Amino acid sequence: MSRPLPTQAMRIGFVGLGKLGLPIAMAVEARGYEVVGCDPDPAVARTLQTRTMVHREEGAQPLLDETGIELLSLDEVVRRSDLVFVTIQTPHDPRFEGVTPLPAERRDFDYTRLIAGMRDVAAAVERHGVPRVVVVVSTVLPGTLRRDIVPLLGPLSRLCYNPFFIAMGTAIADFLHPEFVLLGADDEAHTEPLRALYASLGGAPVVATSIENAELIKVLYNTFVSTKIAFANTAMEICHRVPGADVDTVLSALKLGTKRVISDRYLSGGMGDGGACHPRDNIALSHLSRSLGLSFDWFESVMLQRERQTAWLADLVQAHAHGRDVVVLGRSFKPESDIETGSPARLLCHLLEQRGVHVTSWDPQIDPAASRPAGRPFCYFVGTRHEAFRSFGYEPGSVVLDPFRYVPQQPGVDVVPIGVGAS
Ligand SMILES: NC(=O)c1ccc[n+]([C@@H]2O[C@H](COP(=O)([O-])OP(=O)(O)OC[C@H]3O[C@@H](n4cnc5c(N)ncnc54)[C@H](O)[C@@H]3O)[C@@H](O)[C@H]2O)c1
Repeated sequence: MSRPLPTQAMRIGFVGLGKLGLPIAMAVEARGYEVVGCDPDPAVARTLQTRTMVHREEGAQPLLDETGIELLSLDEVVRRSDLVFVTIQTPHDPRFEGVTPLPAERRDFDYTRLIAGMRDVAAAVERHGVPRVVVVVSTVLPGTLRRDIVPLLGPLSRLCYNPFFIAMGTAIADFLHPEFVLLGADDEAHTEPLRALYASLGGAPVVATSIENAELIKVLYNTFVSTKIAFANTAMEICHRVPGADVDTVLSALKLGTKRVISDRYLSGGMGDGGACHPRDNIALSHLSRSLGLSFDWFESVMLQRERQTAWLADLVQAHAHGRDVVVLGRSFKPESDIETGSPARLLCHLLEQRGVHVTSWDPQIDPAASRPAGRPFCYFVGTRHEAFRSFGYEPGSVVLDPFRYVPQQPGVDVVPIGVGAS
């Protein structure tokens, strides 16, 4: 497949040429772009002079042998680049690296270098007097750029967040052949030069979204991988302790489950897992964990997450009821079903009742003959994603808590989509 040629006019700058920045800068250069950069670390200048990679990075040495990347002052980088990538480190305290037992305390990454660097970049853009797209690549927790970086920017900086999904050692191949390109920006127009760059590199699908969503997608991508590894390792430990079991056979079979296990199914925020199989299987495996003496009861943590998330939903119900009677709509464990075994909606009712809240639940699939609550405003919680609850004729003055984000806004009714951060 032929690729669009590089946009000849586009020049690319890199602020930070460390373990990530340098290999990526060289990969972009090798695709025909003029690339310049700056980095205060003398080790970077040494790497470029001696043409010796400090870290092993597949395919980097031949690019380093040939590179013409110039190290310039920040002002020159801004002047000579249409796109300025910022690949400055956001390190963690060594106690949170994962090489020692997890301390009770938790801490964010250290943004000191990134903030200082972005303050300088923003000032250099204003000095230059021409708009520049400034692309932060560094890993941050959601909300960081809005809190710490946006206030530093002058009117000429156009901020995009473009974290890379790459692994150390294969950074170049991962960058040039990504599963998708993630672009976060307040104004989609600011992403245009980046889209042009990525189109010329191979045309991977682009996810363009808000800065906050992009921040979250980046870190959740990584933690989803950790989740899979933890799950697989729990399977390994069970197999080790059960005579006749073999982890490779077990996981090879699960890998064939490409519709449910390895797919986009079950990857939507909503109610907890339900039905006659999943919760009880987890509970039974938690029992097995204990009887085998596993080092960590993964299954208990899955069930605790389900229970605590449901308790949080109960908190939301209580916070929004304001004296209105509470109605949980739906009792079946999944849409358009009449089976209520293991239903997270029933767990929610149970937790609310435990707290002394009077709850009515109504499900047209289970009680078709029963009449729905009506005649006055209620605090509704949609516990099952039945189609009927989308256009239910909610009484004016009611509040509708919607964990599926599918009930439309309607006059006189306070529809609260759960999972959308209030801005
Ligand atoms: N290394 C990876 O595989 C990888 C993958 C994905 C994301 N990330 C993220 O990318 C960011 C960079 O990671 P890294 O591994 O390249 O870090 P690094 O420490 O190897 O490189 C950062 C570079 O930025 C330079 N720098 C600091 N302040 C600067 C400034 N004001 N101006 C110019 N240069 C400056 C440093 O001197 C250093 O060379 C981090 O947020 C990291 O989490 C890294």
